[in-house]
Amino acid sequence: MRLDKFICKSTTLTKSQAIACIHTGKVTVNQLVVTKEATQVHENNQVCLNGDTLTPRPFRYLLLHKSKNTICSNVDETYPSIFKNLDIPRSNELHVAGRLDADTTGLVFITDDGRWSFDIIRPTQKCEKVYRVTLSRPINLDCYESLIAQFAVGIQLQNEVDLTRPAKLEMINQTDALLTIVEGKYHQVKRMFAAMGHRVVGLHREKIGKVSLDVEVGQWRYLTLDEINSFINKPKH
Ligand code: URA
Repeated sequence: MRLDKFICKSTTLTKSQAIACIHTGKVTVNQLVVTKEATQVHENNQVCLNGDTLTPRPFRYLLLHKSKNTICSNVDETYPSIFKNLDIPRSNELHVAGRLDADTTGLVFITDDGRWSFDIIRPTQKCEKVYRVTLSRPINLDCYESLIAQFAVGIQLQNEVDLTRPAKLEMINQTDALLTIVEGKYHQVKRMFAAMGHRVVGLHREKIGKVSLDVEVGQWRYLTLDEINSFINKPKH
């Protein structure tokens, strides 16, 4: 983590105040004065401000049931930000681990731990996301098998070089399906169905990894330690 961020996470100082402290020689790392705010520091470095050792606040991990017509960025745009009704301190330090479109509902993780969210988002980690999809028109029963097979092999999206990674499609009825994917390309689910000639009119994320959505729309809760650790190779205690 950058030194200025470490100071912000350990004190009530703003970023510019933290940088001013660094530039004026008030900050030491392992007993040496450091004057560059971009210096990388780790938990095992001793960082002091005016001689006092700093300890960063623990990371926060939340699960939110996103409602329709809200957006996953930190500021309001065409629709209100999901952070607007998140009544917790320093919500500006938080970000979404895997955004949903404005018209998509369901499970969203929110955190200030960038490494943790990176593991959820990056496809090589193979973290499964389960979506409930509603289509604009029914799929013929005799098309089910070939559609399921195409999702399993990978789909060629417009403006993409590679096929999508193997995805699991389960038809619930002729217009509703469950789709499990390990990636999060821009509008991925809608584009996968569009490539197969179908329009998505309803999209809801039900599950990420082992964590299922279990709060009402608009509500949130903190993740348990087990849930947090289920996404990392080196568990926290
Ligand atoms: N795929 C989409 O098309 N939209 C989302 O919000 C999430 C996945």
